[in-house]
Amino acid sequence: MPTVSVLSLKGGVGKTSVVLGLAGAATVRGLATLVVDLDPQGNATSLLKTHKTKTTLADVFAHPGKATVEEALTPCDWEIEPGEVDVLPSHPNIIRFDSWTGAAFRPRLARALEHLEGYDLTLIDCPPSLGALTREALAASDLALVVTTPSFFGAQGVERAMVEIDEIRRTVNPNLQLAGIVVNRVRSVAEEHRYRNEELVEIYGRTQLFKPVVPERIAMQQAEGFGQPVQTVRTAGGREVAEIFDGYLTTLLRKG
Ligand SMILES: Nc1ncnc2c1ncn2[C@@H]1O[C@H](COP(=O)(O)OP(=O)(O)OP(=O)(O)O)[C@@H](O)[C@H]1O
Ligand SMILES: [Mg+2]
Repeated sequence: MPTVSVLSLKGGVGKTSVVLGLAGAATVRGLATLVVDLDPQGNATSLLKTHKTKTTLADVFAHPGKATVEEALTPCDWEIEPGEVDVLPSHPNIIRFDSWTGAAFRPRLARALEHLEGYDLTLIDCPPSLGALTREALAASDLALVVTTPSFFGAQGVERAMVEIDEIRRTVNPNLQLAGIVVNRVRSVAEEHRYRNEELVEIYGRTQLFKPVVPERIAMQQAEGFGQPVQTVRTAGGREVAEIFDGYLTTLLRKG
């Protein structure tokens, strides 16, 4: 039952798309998945078609008790079966918990998630920063999945994320492991993308990179537009990425 943080310092690289692709893959397999939307932008919360809840993650951070977490949970209204996805929805106010206070870091999300049982997989969608919210995610996780695009700034962001993962492992969560790096939006015909991909292999080793890479496919944006997982997009591109996410899920469940 792994808890997986999906993170990157850089924005727009595909963290939320990877979370939703994995949640879709898990649902097709009949698993029960929890998605925690730690991004104040709330993209996953809106794409997962959640219901309005009495409390949100902002309340959970303020009072990480059992009742508050249970009241924040909402089912997702995706039209796929046989599995199920529940969501701990974001709220713009969680931004208040992203700042450093100077006090010793005492993780709240990890405490809150201990109250929830019965999920085969928990996915945490992180904001595009390595602030306190991403630290909360890493402190609550077994695995860290770093997402990047094949770009110079993307590679720099991966390096920073690695430092943060090591720091959290050393200080608050010795169980945290790196699941690996997902390279997203790759255009196979672009020489620059091939170069950047090889650079990541050189720095981190072939085993740290998820294979195959996620190609740039319009199906990913169509899924977002329909508010449904990419597993429901019945095009060649949709099937291609669905198969890739299914393979990633196998790797995560094995590593967790
Ligand atoms: N493989 C892909 N092919 C085509 N489009 C993609 C792919 N992956 C993601 N996208 C698109 O890129 C945009 C950004 O993706 P997404 O929102 O998942 O990134 P993010 O890292 O979560 O962003 P943020 O940092 O703002 O949270 C979205 O419109 C998404 O549909
Ligand atoms: Mg996002």
